[in-house]
Amino acid sequence: MAAANSRPESPTSTPTLSHRDLVHVDAALEMHTGDGPVPAINAPPALFGAGGPMLKRFDQSAASSKMPSQSATPPISVVGIGNKVAKPDYSEAKIVVATVGLPARGKSYLSNKLMRYLKWLEYDVKVFNVGQLRRSRARQRAMTSGQREDHTAEYFSHSNEQATRLRDKLAEDSLEMLIQWLKDGGNVGIHDATNSTHNRREKMKQRVAREKGFTVIFLESICDDPAIIAANVALKVSSGDPDYKDMSPDQAKADFLRRIRAYEQVYETITEPHLSYLKIINVGNQVVMNHIRGYLQSRIAFYLMNLHLKPRSIFMSRHGESQYNVEGKIGGDAPLSERGQAYAKSLPGLIKDNIGDAPLTVWTSTLQRTIQTAHFLPYTKLTWKSLDELDAGVCDGMTYEEIEQAYPEDFANRDEDKFNYRYRGGESYRDVVVRLESVIMESERQENILIIGHQAILRCLYAYFHNFPQADLPYIKIPLHTVIKLTPKAYGCDEERYTLPIDAVDTHRPKPKAAVAKQPQLDEVPGSTAKRQYYVEEETA
Ligand code: F6P
Repeated sequence: MAAANSRPESPTSTPTLSHRDLVHVDAALEMHTGDGPVPAINAPPALFGAGGPMLKRFDQSAASSKMPSQSATPPISVVGIGNKVAKPDYSEAKIVVATVGLPARGKSYLSNKLMRYLKWLEYDVKVFNVGQLRRSRARQRAMTSGQREDHTAEYFSHSNEQATRLRDKLAEDSLEMLIQWLKDGGNVGIHDATNSTHNRREKMKQRVAREKGFTVIFLESICDDPAIIAANVALKVSSGDPDYKDMSPDQAKADFLRRIRAYEQVYETITEPHLSYLKIINVGNQVVMNHIRGYLQSRIAFYLMNLHLKPRSIFMSRHGESQYNVEGKIGGDAPLSERGQAYAKSLPGLIKDNIGDAPLTVWTSTLQRTIQTAHFLPYTKLTWKSLDELDAGVCDGMTYEEIEQAYPEDFANRDEDKFNYRYRGGESYRDVVVRLESVIMESERQENILIIGHQAILRCLYAYFHNFPQADLPYIKIPLHTVIKLTPKAYGCDEERYTLPIDAVDTHRPKPKAAVAKQPQLDEVPGSTAKRQYYVEEETA
């Protein structure tokens, strides 16, 4: 929503926000301590943004002054308002992120998380996992020769010269595939391998330097926390890894530990002063950075710095049903309906049943329907402006039918490409993703959190945790009176949904024209399930 500090001259008596009004909002909530109805907050209406009278007037005046533009290139800020807005041009971003580290140090975990984050921000990202390439090629060879190759610990020993050559070749081929993919339009290619010697890293650095505009950052994961290593080893041997297909769990574990020791013999931590690198020690406990330059590199570094591995859950719920929901209106700052209030009262019991006495922080938006929903929850609460619902600009406070009548072209544009459509004077889903980045960053730092948000906002956050593509994101079903519990796992998030038996309207508008609105299924979305991939699909000669 637009800031209130740039108000134009008011032609009529437009409401202004005084300190008294803000105190009044606080007081309304403060005074309410009992089990009665959640207090209504009579905040003065906003001038701009949600339902703002000034914005609607501005839109009308704009309609009468629609003249051909004098300027060949209109200012960027107004291009596409009320229309579809193009994706930012990331074509210049070409980064190789090469992981470094012993086995079981969470390299694939970091690679996967980083991919999910950058894809959510619409960078084109791909992980090139050398282990997957090794298995795929061995499988192909086995199909022709009829003989299975031995990839037990001996294969990874540096005294096994033939295997060492093969493994170096795999890493080189994987880098070539990655570079080709970047040339074809990719932005960030993650080379997921041990890359454990100075020699290997130097070769990679020189190879990448031959490509104009390409840079390489090494991402070293150092981990000496026995609990984290043990968990990673257990994950490796219990997750159906084809390397251990024919072994008992004990044999697999023993072999994997021998593989780790084989790497320890040759492993050289990064000390090369001329390299760009990030060392992540015990997943976020300590971070060392060297030659990290530019916007995207810094963003990658900042994200990785904020990760932790402590078990936790992220709960999400929309606010209880609001008066506007009942009337079919979008946006606004309406209070809860009676059924919405009943939901607010039942929520503490549901959360308590789930986490017992574990600590939890509740996040709400600044809109009263989320604050009222959080009212009875006995936890620390934080209010985020960034969690406010997608700003529908001039359409705020209207029903979908009214919008279709008043702005038929806009309505059709939105149906055609909902992620990219920006409401006149308001936002698109992409705008929301951008403003939610700080929320995502902070959510990664937190332990248990409950986010009480809005339909569009929770779709964007949910898409991050489950790696949903942008085109599907605006249609994700986030029903009212339902708590979604996400539990981060090594390769995605587990999900549980709890729907309270309190009726509410359905505010989901399905994808038009489709015979049956298709809700994206978790198992159709790459990276959304907590499973690891063991083979690469494509194979170069
Ligand atoms: O209808 C409830 C609501 O939260 C509106 O305030 C908001 O504009 C809308 O959902 C977002 O959903 P959609 O993008 O599907 O219109």
